[in-house]
Amino acid sequence: MGAEPVKPKGEADAGKWGLTRPQWKDIQSFVASGLSQLPWGQALFLQIDRPGGGWLRSLRALEPIKKGLGPINNADGLFEEAVTIAFTWTGLQRMGLSDETLKTFTTPFREGMHQEDRRRRLGDEATRGTIVREGLQWSGNVPPEDPSITPAASPKTVHALLLLYDWDEGAVERWALSVQTHLNTQGVTVVHRLPLSLNLDKLDKEIVAHEHFGFTDGRLQPEPYLQPPAGNADETYRWRGIPLADVLLGYPNFHNNNEIAPCPLVPFSDQSTLRADGAPEGYLNLGLNGSYLVVRELRQDVAAFWSSLESAAATMRKQGPHSSAITADWLAARIIGRQLDGSVLCPPGVTAPQNDNFGYLANDPYGFGCPFGSHVRRANPRDGLARDARSGPNLLDAANHHRIMRRGRNYGEKIADRMVDDGKNRGLLFMCLNTDIARQFEFVQQTWLLNPSFATLFNETDPLVGPKGPMTIPEDPLRRVIEVETYVKLAGGEYFFLPSVSALDYLQGL
Ligand code: HEM
Repeated sequence: MGAEPVKPKGEADAGKWGLTRPQWKDIQSFVASGLSQLPWGQALFLQIDRPGGGWLRSLRALEPIKKGLGPINNADGLFEEAVTIAFTWTGLQRMGLSDETLKTFTTPFREGMHQEDRRRRLGDEATRGTIVREGLQWSGNVPPEDPSITPAASPKTVHALLLLYDWDEGAVERWALSVQTHLNTQGVTVVHRLPLSLNLDKLDKEIVAHEHFGFTDGRLQPEPYLQPPAGNADETYRWRGIPLADVLLGYPNFHNNNEIAPCPLVPFSDQSTLRADGAPEGYLNLGLNGSYLVVRELRQDVAAFWSSLESAAATMRKQGPHSSAITADWLAARIIGRQLDGSVLCPPGVTAPQNDNFGYLANDPYGFGCPFGSHVRRANPRDGLARDARSGPNLLDAANHHRIMRRGRNYGEKIADRMVDDGKNRGLLFMCLNTDIARQFEFVQQTWLLNPSFATLFNETDPLVGPKGPMTIPEDPLRRVIEVETYVKLAGGEYFFLPSVSALDYLQGL
């Protein structure tokens, strides 16, 4: 998820990442913050029936959308509400962007998440049991460029995602319903709606978010830098620093000779507030200060997760004295790679690091603490794939080429008893920001989470988001292997373009 620990209301975020005020003012608040001050939300999935930007113009004129859709601005009293909007490729078509402009978006975004090759890469195949039984509920329904490829039609076509965040659950629901009524008058239909939450709880002195299985979530994030800091003294940069260019379009990416990720372009006009930055002559940069948003609605079966781990633990306890202390919590922690309270799993005798600036190579090279195959170790192996201490920094650097900024939220109610299936629909609306979908999100999913030969493993995948299969828990002298079911299934998803504030101005003028 994307919620950093809750900060006191009013704490200034402006100036974050070394951006100047004009740049900062152009960025939607969702990019810059997990917005955990506003723990309740509503996700409205929109279908644009009346093409053009008129509906967006009228939506942005409504209070409190007018105040909440824009940059973080605590000084102006933001954080009563926050609003985010992003578009699928078919949505941008409906907005009225020309074919010439549409072609300047990157290939993964244009093809969409359900194009045949991408679907295979992401492991989204009904035969693997990773899709909900009813089949995909929504997508951008992008028509394939190659007509020989079957489009992955899902019943509901989504053109835009509108996220509303508030500090009150009832208020945000009432707000969502009034926005829905307004949109209906503008030729826009809400085809799907999810109530969002962070399941906040007090842990020591901190208030933290929890995902539905009960683990603290959203704290492990990369740290964007506009420029690499001078010298080697910056510990945060060393362990989890990434170029701002991996989160925001239009900035030089210092992974790669200061290359700027390809940005969508529109023909030059002196009436526009868009800037040219990096665009070829005759064009303006529609991507600058925007990002690509990956959205996956991942349904979680909480009761099945805990019941099956309870029974696996009971069976293991019967195996002998070396297994007498195994509990469902112990197994679940190995699946995630963290304790329920978020603390790091370390081998016996090793002190757990107190913050996120650490690697696996020095303290846990054999996975005796945090298993190689656990969700967090796959999702970000840090320096743990290095062969020896000498190659550690290079492997850490390579891993940091593939980081994503997570911004997900829970949908559905918190379960009352984790062992009892109440039949309700709940899960994670996984959302992450990146500027190169193939190098970042898709790489994490394909090459780390779903790689059957990840690290020293063979024929197993991420125990949390992968299909049913074995998971190895290394231990000295004998490893354990458990069989893990599929507790997380895809219900819908798509790639979105999340525009800057000036790009929203451009789109509403179409
Ligand atoms: C329902 C599905 C999922 C659940 C319940 C889940 C849960 C978690 C939890 C509990 C953590 C550690 C706590 C924290 O961040 O504070 C975590 C970390 C992480 N997850 Fe997931 N996750 C899910 C899906 C995904 C997916 C689909 C991806 C990417 C494709 C992903 C990528 C990551 C990354 C990058 C980290 C941070 C690892 C690190 O930096 O050490 N997760 N997840």
